[in-house]
Order: sequence, then structure tokens, then C-alpha cells
Amino acid sequence: MSKPIILTGLRANNNLTIGNYFGAMLPIIDMARTRSNDYQVNMFIPDLHSITTPVDYSAINKQIILTAKHFVAAGLPLDNPDIHLYRQSYISAHSELTWILDCFTGFGEMNRMTQFKDKSNDLAAERVSVGLFNYPVLMAADMLLYGPEYVPVGDDQSQHIEFTRDIGERMNKQFGELFTIPKTVKEQHAFFGKDQGLRIMDLQDPTKKMSKSDESGKGVIFLADTPEAAARKVMSAVTDEVAYVRFDRKNQPGISNLLEILALLQSRSLDEVVKEFEGQTLYGDFKAVVAEEVRRFLTDFQRKLHDVDEVAVTAKLEQSEKAMTITANATLLRTQQAVGLRPGN
Ligand code: ADP
Ligand code: TRP
Repeated sequence: MSKPIILTGLRANNNLTIGNYFGAMLPIIDMARTRSNDYQVNMFIPDLHSITTPVDYSAINKQIILTAKHFVAAGLPLDNPDIHLYRQSYISAHSELTWILDCFTGFGEMNRMTQFKDKSNDLAAERVSVGLFNYPVLMAADMLLYGPEYVPVGDDQSQHIEFTRDIGERMNKQFGELFTIPKTVKEQHAFFGKDQGLRIMDLQDPTKKMSKSDESGKGVIFLADTPEAAARKVMSAVTDEVAYVRFDRKNQPGISNLLEILALLQSRSLDEVVKEFEGQTLYGDFKAVVAEEVRRFLTDFQRKLHDVDEVAVTAKLEQSEKAMTITANATLLRTQQAVGLRPGN
């Protein structure tokens, strides 16, 4: 009996912050490692989605490999046969199934997708592509080809999961059991234990989240920052006038954020870290501890990233792509037969 599947897409981006690392990358890797006893875990890089908005086309190929390397540096094992890592565009069934699903998707249905509205609002009209409009259908194909039960994604992607369920069920009704449908978003939240709400805040404005798209980047620690520059950002983090270290997000958001960052970097509980530093009155000393820990973390992460064996990563990608092509092509053929494009209906 084959294992049930958990599937998720990892966007290619090399401009990642420690917020992305602790808020998204590590939890996904932990999930893959712990769940792979009972599940097949499909992790893929949605490179076809990457080109739905204008990008630097000369950089994208390198970014894809570097994204895979980031995950390996953060602890994703390459030798686990139940974890697959693949590039979407290397499995042509993704594009082919998308076209068929397109022909069963209402224009009005797509027009209601909020991510499209948000993303297209950010672009000049002539840069809004049909590919961007079609983004959710490609996502539906990503899922329906493999029939995952669970698909861990951020809240902004929930509508796309619901759409996948809708189109999958609609086609099953019309053609018989073609697809395995992912569980509802509610069931997904229950399974994964809904987002623990981790939010690392900007060092210069601790009331807003640390984000890679922040323009100045002064309050943002990027994984690619030099350890020294990152340490300096911590030393100049905005704090308060209270002169008393305490965890109080509302009244001392800067200090609270640094306590939280320190706990994550040291893999300790927040309680423990708060107990150790509560009551300190010299913020400079406390910041120096956090800065040193950031410096150590980045030095270590960048060394790991540098040491990731690119040949081994490429071999894993190719191996997974070969295996996944077989599964994906089987679903595609079933669908082609159902809609009359191949004999054997
Ligand atoms: P960004 O704001 O850096 O562009 P995205 O919106 O692309 O980040 O989010 C990518 C993933 O990283 C999401 O799962 C999100 O929850 C997580 N994430 C982003 N920023 C933070 C943060 N400051 N703290 C915790 N998690 C974060
Ligand atoms: N759109 C997702 C994101 O922005 C990435 C993604 C693409 C995905 N296809 C998917 C996630 C299929 C889950 C399942 O994060």
C-alpha cells in the first residue's frame, strides 16, 4: 500500500529573512522529517508559477537550485526515500493537466480569486499576464496530479485549495473517480495545528513584521547578510525608554522581539530566555548577546549552505522528477481518456 501524501510548493527566493527561516522553512522541514514515517512528502519548487509575474529571467535558474540548497542547509535530508524534491516545470504533466482543467474552469470563478486581484493591483496593467490569472489552475494541477490529503500553505493560499477541491469534485462528478481531493482547509488546520503565530518583527519598527520586501532592509536580517552587518543591525535595533528587560509585546515590542529572536536562535523556550534576562537594565549588554548569537547563526548557516553538495541536490531533484513523472503521467492519462483525448474511456 502506498502512503498518503503531503504536498507543498516552495517558492524560489534567495532573499530570505530569518522570519522566513523560522516562520516557514524550519517548520516545513520539521514537518517533512516527522511526517515521513506515515506519509510520502512531496516538496516542489513551483518554477512555472515564478514566471507568472515579471522576474529576472537570467537569474531564475540559479535561484531554483539555490532555493533547494537553502532547504538542505536548513536540515532537509536528501536520502529519505519518502521525501521527494522536484521542480514543477521538469514534469510536463503539470502544464498539460493545467490546460485540461482550464477548459473546465469558469472565467467568473477565476475572477473571484483574491490573490490575483492583489497581485495584479501591484502591476502596471500591461504586465498583468494570463499566466497570473491562471495561477490557481496550475496550483490545482500541482495537487490533483498526486492526490495529496494535506497541503500545508499560508492563509493567503486557502482560496486556491478550496478551488482545487471544487474543480476536482466537479470533474469527479462528471467523469467518475479521477482525482483524490485534498482535505478541507479546516481539516488541514486541525491536522497541522494552525500556525503557531510566530512573527519576527522589524528591528527598526517592531510593530510591523520583518519582511524581505521592506525597502530599506535596515530592520531586516537576511540569511545572506554578512554576520557582522547583521550583528550591527541588532545593536541598532529600536527599543524603548523603560530600561528594564521584560517580555511585553504591547509596551516593549522591540525588547520582546529580541527576546523572541534569541530564543529561536538558541532553540530554547521563550520562558527560559525571559527568565535569564528579565530585569537587566543595560539594553546594550542584552543586545550584544543577541547580536553575537545572530552572528554565530549566520556564520554557521552560510557555512552549511556553502557546503551543500550541489551535485547531490541535482541528483535528488532528477531522481524525484523521474519518480514523480510516472505518477503524474498516470493521472494525466486517466484525465485525457476521460475527456476523450486518448482512447480507453
Ligand atoms: P515576506 O514578508 O518576507 O515576503 P512571505 O509573505 O513571502 O514573506 O512569507 C513567506 C513565509 O514566511 C510565510 O509562511 C510566512 O508566514 C513566513 N514569514 C514571513 N515573514 C515572517 C516573519 N517576520 N516572522 C515569521 N514568519 C514569517
Ligand atoms: N502558490 C504557493 C505559494 O505562494 C506555492 C505553490 C504552488 C503551492 N503550487 C502549490 C503550494 C501547490 C501548495 C500546493 O506559496
